Amino acid sequence: MLTLIKNGTLVTEEKSQIADLLFENDKIIRIADDISPDRNMKVIDASGLYVLPGGVDVHVHLDLPMFGTVSSDDHYTGTKAAAFGGTTTVIDFVSQDSDDLVKNVRTLKDKAAGKAAVDYSFHANITHLSDAVEKDIPLLVKEGITSIKVFTAYNNRLRLQDGEIFKVMRIARDNGILTMLHAENGDVIEIMVNEAIAAKHLSPEWHAKTRPSWGAVESVMRASAISAMADAPLYIVHMNAGGEVDMLEYAQKHGLQIYGETCPQYLFFTEEDLAKPDGAKWICSPPMRTQIDQDRLWHGLKNGIVQTIATDHCPFFYDGTKPINYEGSPVAIPGKELGKGDFTKIPNGLPGVGDRMPILWTEMVASGKFTASEFVKLTCSNPAKIFGMYPQKGTLQAGSDADLVLWDPKKTLQYGVAVSHQRTDYNLYEGWKLQGFPISVFSRGELIVDQGIWLGKPGRGKFIPRKTFNTDCLG
Ligand code: URP
Ligand code: ZN
Ligand code: ZN
Repeated sequence: MLTLIKNGTLVTEEKSQIADLLFENDKIIRIADDISPDRNMKVIDASGLYVLPGGVDVHVHLDLPMFGTVSSDDHYTGTKAAAFGGTTTVIDFVSQDSDDLVKNVRTLKDKAAGKAAVDYSFHANITHLSDAVEKDIPLLVKEGITSIKVFTAYNNRLRLQDGEIFKVMRIARDNGILTMLHAENGDVIEIMVNEAIAAKHLSPEWHAKTRPSWGAVESVMRASAISAMADAPLYIVHMNAGGEVDMLEYAQKHGLQIYGETCPQYLFFTEEDLAKPDGAKWICSPPMRTQIDQDRLWHGLKNGIVQTIATDHCPFFYDGTKPINYEGSPVAIPGKELGKGDFTKIPNGLPGVGDRMPILWTEMVASGKFTASEFVKLTCSNPAKIFGMYPQKGTLQAGSDADLVLWDPKKTLQYGVAVSHQRTDYNLYEGWKLQGFPISVFSRGELIVDQGIWLGKPGRGKFIPRKTFNTDCLG
């Protein structure tokens, strides 16, 4: 089956050009100024539209058990929401539920396989180190997993000690695996949370007050130094503090191979949002910071210090006692209400996988602050390059998967929970006025969103085995 998209403005990380794009079944086969239609082709007129590569969100948590509940999007609902927002590839995380890393991976693969509606991969969390785990890390590569995440926070739960992180980074380096870091200071957080509880400071803003940004800053510097000593690459997830960008820049200036990711919530909200009556909606870890931090994050994105924008999508209901209608059935999943009166019990995490591309397009491209190519670089191509999926994903090239988004730059709408398809009862961007929106989405050549209509199916998404880390991935 041949499909010709004519007269669209094709956007890659390098340029925007009016051109034609031909795809056959699941692959792009040709891009040229003028491709003549023939009668074997279905022709789509994309005049006035942008044609973007499907978005690549390398940081989502689907169906993740935590805080006595579970993140409210599973591998179907989360990937469906992703598609509506123009994202066609996501990377979720394998928890270290046992020390048999391969078993953990296969269990999650089985869980996702019948559900995912767009393509997906996994990172593996390393949250407990033993001789057996050290031996297992290289086996992840055969499973198609070439990135692992470590934590300097969540004492007695997910955190590794510095020496363990050093060991993990060396093993990762030797096997072409990229180490990712959750950067906060677990010891300081533990003390400050206990003090807040003792002083009965239990409202949501204390979540931010007990996780100071200096902890994130020193953790980025510490892990950068460890990566230098281990001679291993490093990727800092969910960067939120301006000082983290300073540390990242310092490390990069010293020749270290260190990449940074931020998320929309850190670009648009501050710790003051946690002080609102419904402040629990904004609780995630690390927390939001200040306007000064936002400005430095934007500066880092504009100047190539921070390479990607992902979401850390980990949604919960605001009030999980009240069902919402999801595909015709009532659904209620315990959420933020679990922590009413005690911020330490509020599930940490936010919705975002479907919001990312439309919100960022409006704020970056429609506003004139970033070019369409810069947008594609940060949301599609850099993530695919760093995580071993390029050029299959993240760009428009002959041979790439036909993951395509027809984007209408003139479409205006008021955004919010009624528009987004995330399976939760609220949206952080409620009432925001957007300019530019995805109207049709193809995943591997299959039209799965057409003018707001869902045509996708659970289980059609494929696991994408990823290539080992390439030190030259960003050229
Ligand atoms: O609050 C968040 N971000 N929950 C997800 C876990 C993590 O550390 O990314
Ligand atoms: Zn994290
Ligand atoms: Zn996360």
